[in-house]
Amino acid sequence: MSIAQSTETAAKLRCIACGCTPDSAARDFRCAKCGDLLEFFFFGWTFDPAALKALWLNRKTSRNALDQSGVWRFRELLPHIPEEHAITLREGNTPLYQLPRCARIAGLDMLQAKHQGMNPTASFKDTGMTFAASSARHGGFRWVACASTGNTSASMAAYAARGNMHSLVLIPEGKISWGKLSQALDYGALTCQLRTDFDGCVRILNELVRQKPVYLLNSVNPYRIEGQKTAAIELLEQLGWEPPDHIIVPGGNLGNSSAIGKALLEMRELKLIARLPKLSIIQAQGANPFYRCVREFGGKKLEPMTADTMATAIRIGNPASWKKALRVLQATGGEVEQVTEVEIAAAKAEIGADGVGCEPASAVTLAGLKKLTKRGFVKPGESVVLILTGHLLKDPDFTIKFHRGEMFAGTPDDEDARRTKPLQRAPVVMEADLGAVIAALDRAERSSSR
Ligand code: F0G
Repeated sequence: MSIAQSTETAAKLRCIACGCTPDSAARDFRCAKCGDLLEFFFFGWTFDPAALKALWLNRKTSRNALDQSGVWRFRELLPHIPEEHAITLREGNTPLYQLPRCARIAGLDMLQAKHQGMNPTASFKDTGMTFAASSARHGGFRWVACASTGNTSASMAAYAARGNMHSLVLIPEGKISWGKLSQALDYGALTCQLRTDFDGCVRILNELVRQKPVYLLNSVNPYRIEGQKTAAIELLEQLGWEPPDHIIVPGGNLGNSSAIGKALLEMRELKLIARLPKLSIIQAQGANPFYRCVREFGGKKLEPMTADTMATAIRIGNPASWKKALRVLQATGGEVEQVTEVEIAAAKAEIGADGVGCEPASAVTLAGLKKLTKRGFVKPGESVVLILTGHLLKDPDFTIKFHRGEMFAGTPDDEDARRTKPLQRAPVVMEADLGAVIAALDRAERSSSR
């Protein structure tokens, strides 16, 4: 039950801090010498970029399950895992949408969003999970486990079930949405709700994997990062390999930003793209350790905090991958921003009003973009892609509370939240009467801005 590498692959593990290159990883995926994170690096890559692009495009018409996956389709840029161990739900293949109303609101000519919530379990986690769960199966593990704010656990439980493995989920009690919790239950996970926050769940899990033969599926697992890289590769393919000026992602545990940044750097190295987009990372103000790391400490240190935000997916105070994220932020020339709870709620409704929708954590991207355009970091004519990480239906409570005007009532944000009133669409309760419905329709038409 080791996590050894295949001899066929040109990929090797390397510690991001001390640079040592172990042949296999310990069960906590930490460097045995210095305790920092591991990553895959590739050597001997000699691809003809045009041939690679043609091969990937060609696979889209294949009937082979791996070719139909938006992750495995790009397997030339991933470490080798034998095909018979691959677990796929045909993840990836997510749409790139225009957001015309959001573009106007943000002061841009055009704005696009890659919706990773359109994955099989409705979040971006599936792209990393297909690959890392497959590596667990390849390693012969019976149990996989994660600490989660909800989406990782939903995704892990699904892939474990598909791969005939057991899954153990550690989630903070009361701090995850019903949508995500219900997924883990239906997919058959052993779900432990711990009376702590996400960071507390991570601490327990790290201890657990040292004592039990359980495969860790949090994003410290470098296979997760490799799978999640493909979102950026697929995005660039959708853009005809013409890089946007900016890509904007939410930041929680910072695995996703690290993965997207890694993909961008590798694609440039391979001459699949000619220049790098700037990758910017947005955090909720109440869960902003990375924002503070960059702005207050110049990237020198990350001070863990007790995190609090209604965007529960990114309620994380001690992000594991901050050094990886910092590196890609600096390499691409991106920025960090923080956004308030009211800004998140407004942005979420605005993305919804474009007919797309997303979960609260994803909406920090638009909220952050508005600030980046105001500051002049993003210019009106530039091309921008938001990465929407989770589906609108992941957290219906948040949405209903917002539209009913209940979200900020009696909180210090009440005053500030008044400006979100025009975005609210509370259901109108009325008698089962045609006249009443027609009156509601006429009222709505009079106040319509479209
Ligand atoms: N958006 C959503 C919807 C998420 O679920 C998460 C993280 C993030 C953004 C942040 O991504 O951690 O890679 O920076 N959710 C994790 C989970 C932590 O357990 O589901 P990150």
